[in-house]
Amino acid sequence: MAISRKNAAEIDAMRAAGRIVAEILARLAEMCVPGTRTMDFELRSAEIIAARGAVSLFKNYPHYGGGVPFPATVCVSVNEQVVHGIPGDQAVAEGDIVSFDVGVRVDGFCGDAAMTVPVGKVSDQRQRLIDVTREALAIAAETIRPGILWSAVAGKMQRHVQQAGFSVVTDFVGHGIGAEMHEDPKLPNYVCRDLLRQDILLEEGMTLAVEPMVNMGTHKVSVLSDGWTVVTADRKPSAHFEHTIAVVGGGSDILTRLDA
Ligand code: MF3
Ligand code: CO
Repeated sequence: MAISRKNAAEIDAMRAAGRIVAEILARLAEMCVPGTRTMDFELRSAEIIAARGAVSLFKNYPHYGGGVPFPATVCVSVNEQVVHGIPGDQAVAEGDIVSFDVGVRVDGFCGDAAMTVPVGKVSDQRQRLIDVTREALAIAAETIRPGILWSAVAGKMQRHVQQAGFSVVTDFVGHGIGAEMHEDPKLPNYVCRDLLRQDILLEEGMTLAVEPMVNMGTHKVSVLSDGWTVVTADRKPSAHFEHTIAVVGGGSDILTRLDA
């Protein structure tokens, strides 16, 4: 497994992409009120991407199993939808939780990030799910540094999620990112024998898309007949946060931020 390492200029190029991703997520969060159709988020995302001279990483992304390519610039996943929801006519409603995932390339470098947003007032349990998932990603960012093993990072995320009574999705994982959206290594959000057997030593210059997906109930998921939309097996809600993060001398550098 060859993990590419980026120099400071390449990391700055990824930061430029990351800022656009963060801008889109911020705008979509503002629009996340009752009555907004999931396609409205797509229109706004595509508009900002074009205005910034960026290119969507998701639109027309080939299906992993030979199905239709992903048809939009943003994944919009509502409630029991875990990831890869396809924008359409459905309007979001008070009490829903909505996950947005956006990736762009600018000047040859990529940024990829996601967040889950409540629509109006949501149940305490749903808000807790959102908070715990955001915290898991924050814990990863605080833990990442050169010389640490990925299993140590993943273990901290997993513990935080499970102590809250929630479960970590295992069928989908984070990934290296750079000139391509998906680079080595694969970054599970949990510890398993495979990871311990072939652990990943983080080194300065690695750039990682860390993306915990957390379910309120079972960790098991299935894919809808559209070929993309991942839903929880028990149809209980799910949350997703993602940042593109560089491993740097001082620890970690979150590239997908408005103020990055
Ligand atoms: N953040 C997701 C990923 O890392 C989004 C991919 S959506 C797709 O895979 F449509 F591009 F596949
Ligand atoms: Co990703």
